[in-house]
Order: sequence, then structure tokens, then C-alpha cells
Amino acid sequence: MYDQAQRLRQLVVSEQSQSQQSQQSTTSTTRVMTITSGKGGVGKSNFSLNYALGLAAKGKKVVVLDADVGFANIDVLLGKHPRKTLADLIQKKVSIWEILEVGPYGIQYIAGGSGLQQLIHLQTEQLNHLIGQLSELQGYADYLIIDTGAGLNEGTLRFILSSDDVIVVSTPEPTAITDAYALIKLVTRHERRSNIQLVINRASTITEGKQTAEKIALVTQKFLETDLQILGYVLDDPSVSRAVKEQVPFLIRYPESPAARCIEQLVKKQIKETTAVTGNETGIRSFLSRFIRVFRE
Ligand SMILES: Nc1ncnc2c1ncn2[C@@H]1O[C@H](COP(=O)(O)OP(=O)(O)OP(=O)(O)O)[C@@H](O)[C@H]1O
Ligand SMILES: [Mg+2]
Repeated sequence: MYDQAQRLRQLVVSEQSQSQQSQQSTTSTTRVMTITSGKGGVGKSNFSLNYALGLAAKGKKVVVLDADVGFANIDVLLGKHPRKTLADLIQKKVSIWEILEVGPYGIQYIAGGSGLQQLIHLQTEQLNHLIGQLSELQGYADYLIIDTGAGLNEGTLRFILSSDDVIVVSTPEPTAITDAYALIKLVTRHERRSNIQLVINRASTITEGKQTAEKIALVTQKFLETDLQILGYVLDDPSVSRAVKEQVPFLIRYPESPAARCIEQLVKKQIKETTAVTGNETGIRSFLSRFIRVFRE
């Protein structure tokens, strides 16, 4: 295991120096965001997709990676059947450009398929291929948004610990709050320096959303000595479920709905707060080298 990790690190380092040579004039960095939750079913996939669309509507280039094992969430929400998935990339060694599917507003997405189930037990050459291919996205996209599945498995934890930003989604329900806190605790224990951002979904009112977020932030500050960034709230809105049934994202189908308006607010905030981010510690290559490090731990 150690030898494999070491070889992969060398691979990333050599790719980094090659990339620095070839991209000296390029300063663009792809921000890697993992969307996760403690409790399942709180609205991660709907958030990931509509958030991605909101960023794309503001002119950002966004790639969504559906990292939900076994369930093709993003495809279903879009009413599409992907031709190729991440499993094809890993197993058949096709290129990342062959599995990128085009969605509305020019977003691109990678369907997970069952590929990620094997992510933990990949052979070195498969992992090399995956890493090499994902690193092709560096500078190509402004955001890589990773939607994770319900329940915390090793693969999901690896994505969380490697990302620049971790967006934790919770609802105001006590069970969701407790599970969100447990997840945040786990992340902070691993001493990663990713930004943890909080989104409260399905809030009955803005006040309820705000109070829920503040409650979580307060406990996290007090017991984990970690500052959470409160990204914002999405209201509980029947348009979301309606849009899911129609297989059209609510931001497109119901742009005037309360939930769509909330997403727009969050997008505005995200763009405002991340435009200033630069440096070597962000982006896909840093994400991948952390991904390998976590792999060793
Ligand atoms: N803001 C909202 N208002 C009303 N209903 C919502 C909202 N967000 C999500 N839902 C409902 O919750 C359901 C589950 O959402 P979603 O599939 O996005 O959750 P998830 O966290 O990705 O689930 P999983 O953990 O299984 O991956 C949706 O089909 C929709 O009916
Ligand atoms: Mg989901």
C-alpha cells in the first residue's frame, strides 16, 4: 500500500512540474467542492445540480462528478441516460473527454456508475489513469462539484478530505443536525484544512434556516474549535419535488420559485467569496495529491 502511494505521489509531482512548465501563463485554478451530508436524503443531489447550473448561468465552467455509488442521481434529475460513466474510464481506460456528458447551460457531468465502488481497491495502473485523467480538468473548469451519496464510506471520506471546499448540507430536523455535526467532527479530526461550508436545505423560513446554521456553527466552534462558513439556506419548496418528477432541474423549470431564488443567492455569495482564491494549495492537482495522501493514511 505504501509503495503504491509513494509511486502515485511521484506521478503527481512529475505531472505538477510538467504542468507548471506548460501552463506558465495560465493562472486559472479549478476549485474542487465536495457536497456531503451526515444524514441521507437531505437534498445533496438537487443542491449539487442546481448549484452547478446557477454557477454556469453566471458564466462559470462547471463539471459535476456524480460520486454516488450505485445510484445515478444526476442523470435521473436531468432525465438523461449517460453513454459512458466513470467506471468506463477506470476499467476501459477511455479518456475523461469521452465520458463528459453535456447538460443544460453548458455544464458537463460525469456519471458515477458503479465505478466508484472500486475506488478503494483500484490497481495502481487504474488509479494512475484516473488521476492523470482527472488532472486534465485542471484549468478547464472553474468548479469541479462532487456529489456524494448517502452514508459515509471510505471513498466519500477521501473526497471530503481532499477537496478545497466541503459543503455540508443539513435540514433543520434534529436528526439531520446531529448527523451533520458528527460528520463535521470526523472531518476536523483528520486535521484537513478544507473550508467547511454549511447549507441548510428545506428551511420553512429564512429565520429557521439561519437559526439552524447558527446552532451548528456555535457547537462546532465551541467543541471542535472550528469556524464554519455559513453559505446559506434553501427554502422548503414543493417546486423541488415537482421538478424531480418532471426530471428537469428546478432552477430551469421553476426559475421564479423560492428554492431557485435561494440557489441564486448562494451562487452570488460563492462567486464573491471564491474569486480571490489563488495559489498552489487549491485546484485539481492539489486535490489529487491530497487524495493520494489520504489513501496512505
Ligand atoms: N428545498 C427542498 N424543498 C422541498 N423538497 C426538497 C428540497 N430539497 C430536496 N427535497 C426533496 O428531497 C428529495 C431528496 O433529495 P436528493 O435526492 O437531492 O437528496 P440526497 O441528499 O441527494 O439523497 P441521497 O442521500 O439519497 O443521495 C427530493 O427528491 C425532493 O423531493
Ligand atoms: Mg443524492
